[in-house]
Amino acid sequence: MKIILVALTVFFSTCEHADMIKAKNFFDNAKCAECHNVEDFKDKTFRKSKTFTEMKGMVSACQIQHDAQWFDDDEHDVALYLNQEYFHFTEKE
Ligand code: HEC
Repeated sequence: MKIILVALTVFFSTCEHADMIKAKNFFDNAKCAECHNVEDFKDKTFRKSKTFTEMKGMVSACQIQHDAQWFDDDEHDVALYLNQEYFHFTEKE
């Protein structure tokens, strides 16, 4: 039983990691950094979003405006990635 649990944990954490790499590539390829210095995302006094949902909404608005043509899942992955790296909101849906 324990081995199965360990195997599952490894499996899921690898997947999550793969999504993070994918999301970072999305962010880099869509040239989001042309306007955004990601370090600013860490700065609570500078950032605009106050919740994960708000931030994800901004990801969506920005990618549509810049014609990145991401799917909803991609937006969600990028929002999760930005949250893990910079925003650190605890709520995540
Ligand atoms: C041409 C410049 C520009 C580009 C390119 C751009 N953004 Fe933005 N982004 C903005 C501006 C301006 C705002 C603030 C919008 C507002 O205040 O309503 C913003 C806000 C955001 C926020 C919210 C930040 C906060 O402080 O809460 C996120 C997250 C974000 N953008 C992600 C992205 C992503 C992902 C991409 C790439 C698809 C992207 N942006 C590309 C100009 C840009």
